[in-house]
Amino acid sequence: MTALLELRGLGKDYGARAAVAALDLDVAEGEIFGLLGPNGAGKTTTISMIAGVVAPSRGHARVAGHDVVTAAFAARAATGVVPQDLAIYDELTPRENLDFFGALYGLSGATLRERQAWALGVAGLADRADEPTKTFSGGMKRRLNLAAGLLHRPRLLVLDEPTVGVDPQSRKHIFDTIRALRADGMTVLYTSHYMEEVQALCDRVAIMDGGRIVAHGTIPELLAGRAGAAALVVEIELAGVVGDDAIGAALAAAAAHGEAARDGRTLRITPVASVGAVIAAVEGAGVAIAALRTHAADLEAVFLAHTGHSLRDG
Ligand SMILES: Nc1ncnc2c1ncn2[C@@H]1O[C@H](COP(=O)(O)OP(=O)(O)O)[C@@H](O)[C@H]1O
Ligand SMILES: [Mg+2]
Repeated sequence: MTALLELRGLGKDYGARAAVAALDLDVAEGEIFGLLGPNGAGKTTTISMIAGVVAPSRGHARVAGHDVVTAAFAARAATGVVPQDLAIYDELTPRENLDFFGALYGLSGATLRERQAWALGVAGLADRADEPTKTFSGGMKRRLNLAAGLLHRPRLLVLDEPTVGVDPQSRKHIFDTIRALRADGMTVLYTSHYMEEVQALCDRVAIMDGGRIVAHGTIPELLAGRAGAAALVVEIELAGVVGDDAIGAALAAAAAHGEAARDGRTLRITPVASVGAVIAAVEGAGVAIAALRTHAADLEAVFLAHTGHSLRDG
């Protein structure tokens, strides 16, 4: 099966800086694909190229086989974009907003009415359709933003950080909506810097940092890491007064069993298949262990393992 979204060497430079280096990625029809990365990773730039609003510096993006540059009209018709910055008009009601977006997509008459009713229902705004949008909460505005991206029933729905600044109820509504749309056959590209969201929602994930994809796969594949089994994060606090040389030796020994990072006298190793092997390695380096903690690897740990820095600090 060919992918609904194909990126081939897609990149964007701003001045001398590559905001996106050269992405290769396939998103299959019917999956929820997550693009996870800290602020500045290049998620919005990538989405903007897919949406046809930023011209690529190199490479290609195709939606449903249509190149976003050379077949822009057809590519756009297959793509619904829900931008990170709200794209709705505060002075208009939801219905008036959707009139406006419907016209952009070339919808009118009975088709527009039918799509409007559907999108308002999906967004949970059917009973608020004629109230001024400026009176809405952040979460309601986010949901209207989503309705606007859905109006033309795109095959590919692209959501850029759709839960930033929303209340838990709207967040749950957005999640439920995405799952229902996928059950209905829609393909979803979801960007976020919240690893919990991506872990809960997405079938496959690409982890981005500094304009590059540093890892990609299904959630179980990413969490398994090198070991191929359910992996752990191991934190080891070293005992007593140990010098930098000894800590360095312990870190090097631990690094044979996973990505190892040091924070003061604590070593953090992930992904780890055998805790016993890590303990033996550290003690074998001549350093005593004062305390040891383990927890199941999450996407945060995967990010750390691939980049050497934390997703949260990003
Ligand atoms: N219009 C622009 N002009 C110059 N630099 C930009 C522009 N848009 C984004 N960048 C830079 O490109 C990098 C990636 O940004 P962005 O795609 O917004 O990342 P993300 O959405 O993952 O936070 C950042 O360093 C950002 O400052
Ligand atoms: Mg962004």
